[in-house]
Amino acid sequence: MCGIVGYIGSQEAFPILIKGLHRLEYRGYDSAGVALLNDKGELNVFKTKGKVANLEKFCESKDISGTIGIAHTRWATHGEPSDVNAHPHYSQSKNIALIHNGIIENYLTLKEFLKNEGFSFKTETDTEVLVQLIEYMKGKYSCELYDAVQHALSQVEGAYAIGVIERGRPDVLIAARKGSPLVIGIGENEFFLGSDASPIIEYTKKVVYVEDEEVAKLTRDKDLEIRNLSDVVVKHDVQELKFSLSEIEKGGYPHFMLKEIFEQPKALKMCMNGRVNEQLKEIKLSGIIDNMERFRSAKRILISACGTSWHAGLIGKYLFEYYCKIPVEIEVASEFRYRNPVIFSDDILIAISQSGETADTLAAIELAKASGAFTYGICNVVGSSIARATHSGTYTHAGPEIGVASTKAFTTQVAVLIMMSATIGRQLGTVDNQQYLQLVEGLETIDEKIEEILQQASKIEGISKIFTYARNFIYLGRGYNYPVALEGALKLKEISYIHAEGYPAAEMKHGPIALIDEEMPIVVIAPKFGIYDKILSNVQEVKSRKGRIIAIVTKGDTQIKELADYVIEIPESIDSLSPLLTVVPLQLLSYYVAIAKGRDVDQPRNLAKSVTVE
Ligand code: F6R
Repeated sequence: MCGIVGYIGSQEAFPILIKGLHRLEYRGYDSAGVALLNDKGELNVFKTKGKVANLEKFCESKDISGTIGIAHTRWATHGEPSDVNAHPHYSQSKNIALIHNGIIENYLTLKEFLKNEGFSFKTETDTEVLVQLIEYMKGKYSCELYDAVQHALSQVEGAYAIGVIERGRPDVLIAARKGSPLVIGIGENEFFLGSDASPIIEYTKKVVYVEDEEVAKLTRDKDLEIRNLSDVVVKHDVQELKFSLSEIEKGGYPHFMLKEIFEQPKALKMCMNGRVNEQLKEIKLSGIIDNMERFRSAKRILISACGTSWHAGLIGKYLFEYYCKIPVEIEVASEFRYRNPVIFSDDILIAISQSGETADTLAAIELAKASGAFTYGICNVVGSSIARATHSGTYTHAGPEIGVASTKAFTTQVAVLIMMSATIGRQLGTVDNQQYLQLVEGLETIDEKIEEILQQASKIEGISKIFTYARNFIYLGRGYNYPVALEGALKLKEISYIHAEGYPAAEMKHGPIALIDEEMPIVVIAPKFGIYDKILSNVQEVKSRKGRIIAIVTKGDTQIKELADYVIEIPESIDSLSPLLTVVPLQLLSYYVAIAKGRDVDQPRNLAKSVTVE
């Protein structure tokens, strides 16, 4: 979703801001803009609908000088994507410019109030209301910009991360947050601002994560000052960024998504590093060990997440119930938070989120905490809001995921869930020695098995070209591979815009089978174990209706091979580890179908990487 960049220091701000906006493009946006104060203290705002490249072009003949500025990529919520609705927004006098992520929920009430005070509005956005409110407060209290921002924010309901600058004040940039993430980078006599660390990492590794209801003053040649809305000084921790610039660049791949698919063996190794011990044949997750009494006494686990992370959570349900014998309920966070769910104080809520910023998942955590439940986060982004809001948790350590379509985040989330169920099951005595060893040894070799699948990329590319005609796809799986069917379908629809649905294979007879004809591609995930015979019957049902079958099978399979039109082989594994393998060919299939259809896979239309509004 929307991206924020800011700079104050001795360098020219524009190139830093534009580069920062490019780094944030992955979040998804529909317009971009920049505000700069030149050396005469004049405030210039430039903004355009469309890509950052449009903005650069637009600015070619403009005054883009200045060593302080703010910039923004907007993902429309209030008001259509347009030049005028793009950020930064000016106040009425054009003395103040503001960028904003989040939603001001009481903006209509505030707008009415400001209209009565003589303010007029040029846009339908909630953001323009906020900048006008700051100007109003400045007049009312005859105060500095910093105080005016504090006064204004204390009237605001909703979520915000903001950057504000003022005509004639090239020495100060104000930033604040509530609900939407905001990071300040600390350089040598310069500050950087970002909605995440990706626009900052190139310049400094020293960062401060702004907390809710904090207002920061970034003053040229002075130390960082942060106060809360009651004007009390807040001590801030300077943290060190743990990732490098190369991790957020494409590294020779044409797209981030492809790079991230191919990074999965390494990402899983990182995820298991120090946790899966090959010598001792042991899995140790400190987040679980430290809180084992909580897990031991838990009557129930609740899992809440959205999208791909929810699919990983569904695999988690199967894992926890099988290995730990703890009942699990899983629910999409947006539903969970609004249906007055029954939550007991001895429940454990596991929240899964790549970004750690998903608004609905964050709200589910707060709800569980309010009922006294213990909350556990599985996040990728270190220091993210969900990681901080939960009582404990495990990082996936997949490295930055830039492609909008989640790939390595999913496999590392599943790996964490496997390690959790093995650790808890071992402690509870519900996992026997043989099962435990199978899990440890299976995880140890999973990276090599994924490498083997990745070697089939060009074969999968060939298959994908045959199916670009399709307007619909069906994905079928059973057991642990039913969530993988859902994930395969989501991957395809979000980047290729082909409609796709995932089903538990046996559900097909209860409706979707009516869709099958000689045009319909059916992706069947059918590794050889457990209920293989059952899925074999499902494949036969598809075949007799002339559906075109793409099957994911275990190496050496002969029965499904005979029925399927196209086969992708995966190495042998145990049932519960198979999602880590079966999902990989589905990711590649979606990627290559989308490429063949000429889609923008890293920034699919209408999508945002980090969904910070509900
Ligand atoms: C799909 C995808 C989304 C996210 C969802 C949750 O490829 O990326 O469905 O999984 O928006 O995001 P996080 O995991 O950041 O909470």
